[in-house]
Amino acid sequence: MIVTNPLDLMKAAQKGGYAIGAFNVNNMEISQAIVAAHAAKQAPLILQISSGARKYANTKMLVDIIKSLADQYPQVPIIVHQDHGADFDICKSAIEAGFNSVMIDASHEEFDGNVRITKEVVDYAHGKGVIVEAELGKLGGIEEHVSVDEKDARLTDPEEAVEFIKQTGADTLACAIGTSHGAYKFSSDGKVDVDRVKKLTEVLPDTPLVMHGSSSVPQEYVEIVNKYGGDLSGARGVDESTISEAVKYGVSKVNIDTDLRLVMTAIIRQVLTEDPKQFDPRKYLGPARDEIQRMVEHKIDVLNSAGKI
Ligand code: G3H
Ligand code: 13P
Ligand code: ZN
Repeated sequence: MIVTNPLDLMKAAQKGGYAIGAFNVNNMEISQAIVAAHAAKQAPLILQISSGARKYANTKMLVDIIKSLADQYPQVPIIVHQDHGADFDICKSAIEAGFNSVMIDASHEEFDGNVRITKEVVDYAHGKGVIVEAELGKLGGIEEHVSVDEKDARLTDPEEAVEFIKQTGADTLACAIGTSHGAYKFSSDGKVDVDRVKKLTEVLPDTPLVMHGSSSVPQEYVEIVNKYGGDLSGARGVDESTISEAVKYGVSKVNIDTDLRLVMTAIIRQVLTEDPKQFDPRKYLGPARDEIQRMVEHKIDVLNSAGKI
């Protein structure tokens, strides 16, 4: 079921010590696998759609796939979320298409510009019953050589965050704590600043926090890709134990895309290499979908969201 009370879901996660997985969708198979996993584990779900996904698959097509899955699995509460909305118009068009949650990502702006753009989206979205995620700070891995000053300049500052939420009225906050997007998060010993999550939760007890760049890049799938003709050497993600810790200290939404891509690619490569005569897409997309479901069920345990519906 696509929920009409997305904020209640986020607050329940925040108060309940679990996070809702926010998985990126681009096509039917990935969407089916994610929703089936959440039905099996009885977990609430955020399906998020990036601007790139909207261009690739067509916004209505993705919304229709989600609506169809919501009918098929009425027991799963689903939030439909615009991932990284770059401006007001993208967020507005997402809302018009039926999303009930949007992210306005103006984190590249200075503080005042970020506040201005975010507030404009908040005012519009709240008028339509849609919730808003905003971002403060800059995503990017913290490598060992990065100085304390440099690190503080990039990561979300708790005092600034309080002012930002006060001025914008955003419902949830994407915070920079040392993670980055993609399959190559850390080139050396990377760290995630879990203490910063603790501090942010202390100063913003009513604002659910969002962790972007949360793929763990499981090495078993990297190895399959590399074994069957790919090259993802050096790919590295966030330890799942670190994600669980961040959830324990107040992260309520955990964004995962790269791990879905990785599993899909690994299984397709494996099937086609082991069976070179195969050319029925169902024979490689089907096993890929099954493996994505398994991986997502495991993530639900990492996020402690099983049984929370
Ligand atoms: O934020 C990044 C997500 O993985 C979406 O990626 O813009 O390539 O769809 P994308
Ligand atoms: P990953 O690249 O770690 O999966 O992060 C996805 C994300 O943050 C989408 O907003
Ligand atoms: Zn992101």
